[in-house]
Amino acid sequence: MHLKSIFFIILLFMYFSVTNLLAQYSPGKIPIIPIPKKVSVQRGSFTIKATTTIFFNSPEILSDIEVFNDYLGKMYGFRLKTEKYSEEKKNQVVILSDTSMLSENYSLSVDSEGIQIKGSTSSGIFYALQSLSLLLPAGKVAELQIPFVNIEDSPRFNYRGMHLDVARHFFTVDEVKRYIDCLARYKFNSFHWHLTDDQGWRVEIKKYPKLHQIGGWRKGTLIGHKFDEPEQYDTIRYGGFYSQDEIKEVVQYAKKHHIEVIPEIEMPGHALGALAAYPEFSCSGGPFETGKTWGVFQDVFCPDEETFQFLENILDEVCLLFPGKYIHIGGDECPKERWKECEHCQERIRKENLIDENGLQRYFTNRISEYLKTKNKIAIGWDEILDEKLNNEAVIMSWRGYKGGIEGASRGHNVIMTPYSHCYFDYYQSRFTAGKLAIGGFLPIDMIYRYEPVPDVLNAQQATHIIGAQGNVWTEYITNEEYLQEMVVPRICALSEVLWSPKDSRDYNSFTSRLQSHFKFLNFNKINYSTALYDISSRIHRSSESNIEIELSTKFPRGKIHFTIDGTDPKLSSPVFTSNVITDQSLPIHAALFEGVQQLGNVFRRNFSVSLSTGKEISLANPPHEE
Ligand code: ACM
Ligand code: ZN
Repeated sequence: MHLKSIFFIILLFMYFSVTNLLAQYSPGKIPIIPIPKKVSVQRGSFTIKATTTIFFNSPEILSDIEVFNDYLGKMYGFRLKTEKYSEEKKNQVVILSDTSMLSENYSLSVDSEGIQIKGSTSSGIFYALQSLSLLLPAGKVAELQIPFVNIEDSPRFNYRGMHLDVARHFFTVDEVKRYIDCLARYKFNSFHWHLTDDQGWRVEIKKYPKLHQIGGWRKGTLIGHKFDEPEQYDTIRYGGFYSQDEIKEVVQYAKKHHIEVIPEIEMPGHALGALAAYPEFSCSGGPFETGKTWGVFQDVFCPDEETFQFLENILDEVCLLFPGKYIHIGGDECPKERWKECEHCQERIRKENLIDENGLQRYFTNRISEYLKTKNKIAIGWDEILDEKLNNEAVIMSWRGYKGGIEGASRGHNVIMTPYSHCYFDYYQSRFTAGKLAIGGFLPIDMIYRYEPVPDVLNAQQATHIIGAQGNVWTEYITNEEYLQEMVVPRICALSEVLWSPKDSRDYNSFTSRLQSHFKFLNFNKINYSTALYDISSRIHRSSESNIEIELSTKFPRGKIHFTIDGTDPKLSSPVFTSNVITDQSLPIHAALFEGVQQLGNVFRRNFSVSLSTGKEISLANPPHEE
């Protein structure tokens, strides 16, 4: 070999050793999600041992340290001693409350001297410890090596929410707590707990025990999908509720994880659970049964004085159970049919000059939100509550696209964006459903990652009213925790980065790379998650009169697609997809994504049949519905 070639090979070798080391420690590889505002990584690591001590300077931090220690105990089998900080400490963890820092901000540095955390006591320190947990090794080891990092972090939005519907399907206190763990891990600070709906009333109200005794149960549930014909039902009694003690336990648990719980008590629609128990608060008087199917029911609260008294009594108890500043009062999808036929309702419309049933809903919303104001609470409602005469303290949750958010912010309402196009985690995320159902729609993770909560038509002043966004998890088809986790993780990771990280730091390549590292954490923590990120999809083009081209692609930016055309599943030795497959006859294509020797995600299997229509341009005779 020529001397120059040898020299070149040595250089190449040196280059790869250095880049390898850097790659291992580059910020893009640090498995912290959401990505911190500023993060730098140096070579080297600090080791936490069972003998390492945590020094702290304020007793308020102890509860955050306890959450961290609980995690260490559960995952690694040891907890760290805590001691009051007095002077410079080496080779230990030092956590200092810094009252000059904003409430959610923190800094975290790991170097040869140890770990230094600074933050506000209200939640900054808690978030620093969440970040630290994500840096720990994903395996049961006695010594925890943590890479040298320097992190300065703060959130982009004040409101970072996730919702959970426990009415369509019930989740136990322990399951709800694990859901809260998940929110806390990704630095969400709001948990919207959808506690009442047509299919179940889930919160004990002492004054009206029939709400949970009768409204908390249904006599059966729709089998299969709502779109299946004919509709079929099982006859299994289904339900559950949270006692007031259990509610307090969850609220306390959430508080410890720096999460405010926002209860939703649905009104005036989605009220069949309540009306099954107390039909006298409907227009017709009932009787009713708790809903067994999904969708919208015609029977809703009748806004007469007795109903307002009933709802205010309920809210009195709810306000005591939930110490946060918000109460969600629903307001979505309220059919007006019963109100049109009801004497009370029509008289109220005349007496109060409300013009029509929409005016009656505004009257309803204003009365309830005024009542909440007297209790120092702010009402949140779905965007149907928007009306030019709505008092502007009410917060708008914009779910039917962006319009409600734009209108709300323009009128001076604070707005939480949760458009179904980007924030509905009950939508499908993969074409590989393994027989599992979802409500409909398609919301893959990259679409959430690219979501921008502030509509660009708003001016800077109006944009300040967009206080954040939220992912919604309706559970018509999510019947158990395992599937709940799959629907939520890792889509929640994408949303967390939208909500927490600076807009200009969003980078899908870096995100998917960190997510891949993070999957090890999820495996170690036995958290179920979707691998839809690795999905392969196909497109067909017609390349000539007799040929079609089949294109395979994946949204995962690394790895190679291997494929076969003989009906067998691909192996590493199968051809790599580098250009479109051209064919003039029907063909089975099986494909799989490989990174190195590892196969990722689902095997794609599809028969492509060529016909006269294949790959032809499609035109629509009528314009499609905007949805
Ligand atoms: C909703 O999805 N009905 C708010
Ligand atoms: Zn009525």
